[in-house]
Amino acid sequence: SFIQPPQVAWASGALADGPLLRKSTRIQDLTDVFADENARQQLAGEQVVYDVEMLDTSPAEGELYTGVTHLYPGRVGCEYFMTRGHFHARREQGEVYFGLRGTGLLLLQTEQGNARLEKVFAGSVHIIPGFTAHRLINTGEEVLSALAVWPGIAGHDYAALARGFRIRVFEENNRVQAKEVQNG
Ligand code: PA5
Ligand code: NI
Repeated sequence: SFIQPPQVAWASGALADGPLLRKSTRIQDLTDVFADENARQQLAGEQVVYDVEMLDTSPAEGELYTGVTHLYPGRVGCEYFMTRGHFHARREQGEVYFGLRGTGLLLLQTEQGNARLEKVFAGSVHIIPGFTAHRLINTGEEVLSALAVWPGIAGHDYAALARGFRIRVFEENNRVQAKEVQNG
């Protein structure tokens, strides 16, 4: 008999048939992440901004993690819902993202502070090089789901960009507007 592998449902991004870990990140967890902190405080703290499902696999050197992020549609003030974003603790370690559903942007920023945005959509493939911070942004009306694969040893460094990335993305006049900001 053949081994039944874990599965990702391409249409929904749901992971199944493997040992799974789950984490929800809510409005109340995202203090000072969005430009308009007052607007964040007006929203219901329990509202989930994104869910991550992850295969519970080995974190040993050479092993890979696989996870799906489901980033819900919404805004804090005019700024689209987004993940906290991070460098890897092991800066040289890269990652691959695959867009599964919805539409959005992947914000990438180097250690020198150069930021760029890649379109995310069903089927998009994103090579995140080492030494590059990354954040997903949902600019659409639907859930944005993306599959990620990264080294188990990479780790997360959230502190390095706690003051924010160099680019923020807002809805203005019904259009997606990217703005360069001072901090980050
Ligand atoms: O490994 C990744 O980059 C993703 O799985 C992210 O961890 C996920 O999207 C959640 O974002 P963050 O870790 O920045 O809160
Ligand atoms: Ni990462």
